[in-house]
Amino acid sequence: MSQPNNPTIGRDAELTLVICKPDAVERGLVGEIIGRLERRGLHLARAEMRQMDKETAATHYREHAGKPFYEGLIEYITRSPVLLLAVGGPVGTVQVVRRTIGATNPAEAGPGTIRGDLALTTEENLVHGSDSAESAQREVALFFPEL
Ligand code: RTP
Ligand code: MG
Repeated sequence: MSQPNNPTIGRDAELTLVICKPDAVERGLVGEIIGRLERRGLHLARAEMRQMDKETAATHYREHAGKPFYEGLIEYITRSPVLLLAVGGPVGTVQVVRRTIGATNPAEAGPGTIRGDLALTTEENLVHGSDSAESAQREVALFFPEL
Protein backbone atom coordinates (compact mmCIF):
# COMPACT_ATOMS: atom_id res chain seq x y z
CA MET A 1 0.00 0.00 0.00
CA SER A 2 2.88 2.34 0.58
CA GLN A 3 5.39 2.48 -2.24
CA PRO A 4 7.44 5.66 -1.96
CA ASN A 5 9.23 4.84 -5.20
CA ASN A 6 5.99 4.98 -7.15
CA PRO A 7 5.52 8.65 -8.12
CA THR A 8 1.75 8.27 -8.61
CA ILE A 9 1.00 7.03 -5.09
CA GLY A 10 4.01 8.02 -3.06
CA ARG A 11 2.24 10.98 -1.44
CA ASP A 12 -0.80 8.97 -0.35
CA ALA A 13 -0.73 7.96 3.32
CA GLU A 14 -3.96 6.01 2.86
CA LEU A 15 -5.73 4.49 -0.13
CA THR A 16 -9.37 3.53 -0.45
CA LEU A 17 -11.41 1.85 -3.16
CA VAL A 18 -14.21 3.78 -4.84
CA ILE A 19 -16.43 2.17 -7.46
CA CYS A 20 -18.61 4.27 -9.73
CA LYS A 21 -21.36 1.65 -10.02
CA PRO A 22 -23.18 0.79 -13.28
CA ASP A 23 -25.85 3.47 -12.75
CA ALA A 24 -23.14 6.13 -12.41
CA VAL A 25 -21.61 5.13 -15.75
CA GLU A 26 -25.02 4.74 -17.41
CA ARG A 27 -26.15 8.18 -16.21
CA GLY A 28 -22.92 9.89 -17.24
CA LEU A 29 -22.05 10.90 -13.68
CA VAL A 30 -18.49 9.60 -13.35
CA GLY A 31 -17.00 13.01 -14.16
CA GLU A 32 -19.17 14.61 -11.47
CA ILE A 33 -18.15 11.95 -8.93
CA ILE A 34 -14.42 12.15 -9.71
CA GLY A 35 -14.67 15.95 -9.67
CA ARG A 36 -16.15 15.94 -6.19
CA LEU A 37 -13.38 13.68 -4.88
CA GLU A 38 -10.68 15.76 -6.56
CA ARG A 39 -12.11 19.06 -5.36
CA ARG A 40 -12.11 17.63 -1.85
CA GLY A 41 -8.34 17.38 -2.28
CA LEU A 42 -8.13 13.64 -2.77
CA HIS A 43 -5.80 12.05 -5.27
CA LEU A 44 -6.69 9.68 -8.08
CA ALA A 45 -4.00 6.99 -7.84
CA ARG A 46 -5.61 4.56 -10.33
CA ALA A 47 -8.70 4.52 -12.56
CA GLU A 48 -9.97 1.68 -14.73
CA MET A 49 -13.21 0.92 -16.55
CA ARG A 50 -14.12 -2.72 -16.11
CA GLN A 51 -17.04 -5.08 -16.56
CA MET A 52 -17.05 -6.82 -13.20
CA ASP A 53 -17.56 -10.60 -13.41
CA LYS A 54 -19.78 -12.46 -10.91
CA GLU A 55 -16.85 -14.15 -9.17
CA THR A 56 -15.06 -10.86 -8.50
CA ALA A 57 -18.34 -9.26 -7.37
CA ALA A 58 -18.89 -12.14 -4.93
CA THR A 59 -15.37 -11.73 -3.55
CA HIS A 60 -15.75 -7.97 -3.23
CA TYR A 61 -19.16 -8.17 -1.50
CA ARG A 62 -18.51 -11.41 0.42
CA GLU A 63 -19.66 -9.93 3.76
CA HIS A 64 -23.17 -9.60 2.30
CA ALA A 65 -23.52 -13.23 1.09
CA GLY A 66 -26.84 -14.66 2.23
CA LYS A 67 -28.51 -11.31 2.93
CA PRO A 68 -31.89 -10.65 1.28
CA PHE A 69 -30.44 -8.02 -1.06
CA TYR A 70 -27.35 -10.04 -2.03
CA GLU A 71 -28.53 -11.53 -5.36
CA GLY A 72 -29.87 -8.15 -6.49
CA LEU A 73 -26.60 -6.50 -5.47
CA ILE A 74 -24.54 -8.94 -7.58
CA GLU A 75 -26.89 -8.43 -10.56
CA TYR A 76 -26.61 -4.64 -10.14
CA ILE A 77 -22.83 -4.41 -9.86
CA THR A 78 -22.29 -6.77 -12.84
CA ARG A 79 -24.97 -5.46 -15.23
CA SER A 80 -22.69 -3.02 -17.12
CA PRO A 81 -19.18 -1.57 -16.74
CA VAL A 82 -18.03 0.18 -13.59
CA LEU A 83 -15.24 2.69 -13.04
CA LEU A 84 -12.80 1.45 -10.41
CA LEU A 85 -10.84 4.14 -8.56
CA ALA A 86 -8.01 3.87 -6.07
CA VAL A 87 -8.31 7.14 -4.17
CA GLY A 88 -5.51 8.41 -1.97
CA GLY A 89 -4.94 11.08 0.62
CA PRO A 90 -3.91 11.64 4.22
CA VAL A 91 -4.57 9.30 7.13
CA GLY A 92 -8.36 9.18 7.51
CA THR A 93 -9.06 9.18 3.77
CA VAL A 94 -11.25 6.04 4.02
CA GLN A 95 -13.69 7.81 6.34
CA VAL A 96 -13.48 11.13 4.45
CA VAL A 97 -14.56 9.30 1.31
CA ARG A 98 -17.41 7.54 3.16
CA ARG A 99 -18.70 10.89 4.43
CA THR A 100 -18.34 12.43 0.96
CA ILE A 101 -20.41 9.55 -0.50
CA GLY A 102 -23.14 9.75 2.17
CA ALA A 103 -25.52 7.23 3.73
CA THR A 104 -26.23 3.88 2.02
CA ASN A 105 -29.87 4.90 1.47
CA PRO A 106 -29.71 8.07 -0.65
CA ALA A 107 -33.08 9.16 0.80
CA GLU A 108 -31.27 9.51 4.13
CA ALA A 109 -28.00 10.88 2.76
CA GLY A 110 -27.32 14.50 3.59
CA PRO A 111 -27.35 17.26 1.00
CA GLY A 112 -23.85 17.93 -0.24
CA THR A 113 -23.02 14.23 -0.34
CA ILE A 114 -22.76 12.33 -3.63
CA ARG A 115 -25.73 10.07 -2.85
CA GLY A 116 -27.70 12.88 -1.20
CA ASP A 117 -27.38 15.10 -4.24
CA LEU A 118 -27.47 12.60 -7.10
CA ALA A 119 -29.34 9.41 -6.10
CA LEU A 120 -32.70 8.32 -4.70
CA THR A 121 -32.74 4.61 -3.83
CA THR A 122 -30.49 2.09 -2.06
CA GLU A 123 -30.71 -0.24 -5.07
CA GLU A 124 -29.18 2.44 -7.34
CA ASN A 125 -26.89 4.37 -5.02
CA LEU A 126 -24.17 5.24 -7.54
CA VAL A 127 -20.97 4.68 -5.58
CA HIS A 128 -19.09 2.24 -3.40
CA GLY A 129 -16.52 3.30 -0.83
CA SER A 130 -14.49 0.97 1.41
CA ASP A 131 -15.92 1.02 4.95
CA SER A 132 -12.72 0.66 7.02
CA ALA A 133 -8.96 0.76 6.64
CA GLU A 134 -8.94 -3.06 6.66
CA SER A 135 -11.62 -3.28 3.94
CA ALA A 136 -9.77 -0.68 1.91
CA GLN A 137 -6.57 -2.71 1.96
CA ARG A 138 -8.38 -5.87 0.90
CA GLU A 139 -10.45 -4.14 -1.81
CA VAL A 140 -7.60 -2.10 -3.32
CA ALA A 141 -5.53 -5.30 -3.47
CA LEU A 142 -8.41 -7.16 -5.18
CA PHE A 143 -8.72 -4.65 -8.04
CA PHE A 144 -5.27 -3.05 -8.16
CA PRO A 145 -2.86 -5.76 -6.94
CA GLU A 146 0.14 -3.69 -8.06
CA LEU A 147 -0.65 -1.14 -5.33
P1 RTP B 1 -21.10 0.09 -0.56
O1 RTP B 1 -20.50 -1.12 0.15
O2 RTP B 1 -21.62 -0.23 -1.92
O3 RTP B 1 -20.18 1.25 -0.50
O4 RTP B 1 -22.37 0.56 0.26
P2 RTP B 1 -22.50 0.76 1.82
O5 RTP B 1 -21.24 0.38 2.52
O6 RTP B 1 -23.03 2.12 2.05
O7 RTP B 1 -23.66 -0.29 2.16
P3 RTP B 1 -23.53 -1.85 2.45
O8 RTP B 1 -24.31 -2.14 3.67
O9 RTP B 1 -22.11 -2.29 2.38
O10 RTP B 1 -24.34 -2.46 1.22
C1 RTP B 1 -23.70 -2.70 -0.01
C2 RTP B 1 -24.61 -2.34 -1.14
O11 RTP B 1 -25.68 -3.29 -1.20
C3 RTP B 1 -26.85 -2.63 -1.66
N1 RTP B 1 -27.86 -2.72 -0.64
N2 RTP B 1 -29.09 -2.91 -0.90
N3 RTP B 1 -31.89 -3.27 -0.64
C4 RTP B 1 -31.15 -3.16 0.46
O12 RTP B 1 -31.62 -3.18 1.57
C5 RTP B 1 -29.73 -2.95 0.29
N4 RTP B 1 -28.89 -2.79 1.26
C6 RTP B 1 -27.69 -2.65 0.67
C7 RTP B 1 -26.47 -1.19 -1.95
O13 RTP B 1 -26.00 -1.09 -3.31
C8 RTP B 1 -25.32 -0.98 -1.00
O14 RTP B 1 -24.54 0.10 -1.40
MG1 MG C 1 -20.25 -1.44 2.15
